[in-house]
Amino acid sequence: MIEIKSPHEILLIEKASKIVAETLVFLKENTKPGVSTIYLDEIARKNIEKNKAKPAFLGYRGYPNTLCVSINDEVIHGIPSQNKIIKNGDVVSFDLGVIYEGYYGDAAITFIVGDTQNKEHERLVKVCRTSLEKAISIIKDGIRLGNVSYEIGNFIFENGMDVLRDFTGHGIGRKLHEEPAIFNYGAKNTGPILKEGMTLAIEPMITLGKADVYIKEDGWTVATCDGSYAAHFEHTVCVTKNGVKILSTL
Ligand code: MF3
Ligand code: CO
Repeated sequence: MIEIKSPHEILLIEKASKIVAETLVFLKENTKPGVSTIYLDEIARKNIEKNKAKPAFLGYRGYPNTLCVSINDEVIHGIPSQNKIIKNGDVVSFDLGVIYEGYYGDAAITFIVGDTQNKEHERLVKVCRTSLEKAISIIKDGIRLGNVSYEIGNFIFENGMDVLRDFTGHGIGRKLHEEPAIFNYGAKNTGPILKEGMTLAIEPMITLGKADVYIKEDGWTVATCDGSYAAHFEHTVCVTKNGVKILSTL
């Protein structure tokens, strides 16, 4: 069952999502060659607490940090560490969730640090961001979820890139992960019908090469088997009568 949220609940999810969005901008501004990923994790946590919110990932199924920082061939769930230092040209993904008055917001961004030397990496980031924007743009009350999944996958495949099969977006609200699972590939005219008041976290996770992945020795970090670089964007959105509202934007 996909829950329909009340206007009040949607406001709280929006508040949580805006804290996520604001923290992601702050993190990006502070991401320079030489900084450690644990430093970014610490400033993320402090910024969330300053906003009277709590980190959503910390302790979730044993996840040890506030932020996920995935670099280059890492796709998602990169664990911050004092030994992981950002370099010029790195393709960095941040994924962040917060809880505000019991409600969750979740978003992710990818960007290239410093001077970009690699056009393919630029294209990777752009295709991932655009796939999310295209998917969001078709959402409204009455459409089927399979159309959203198709929109994402189709655009990525058209661009010669690949999507992870074993990780999905999700409903969000009083829990980080609610129904439905939102696949990043799929078929039109399949899946549940979206209704006004549903809140969803849509998150394409894509790779320049093959999307086969493995989990690193830390038990969390998901990286590509072929070493190809990856990107991840995520927004928390709310379905409305005639469209959709992006909640995790400033
Ligand atoms: N955005 C990811 C998700 O929705 C983040 C989960 S990381 C975890 O699944 F640490 F919380 F597991
Ligand atoms: Co998510």
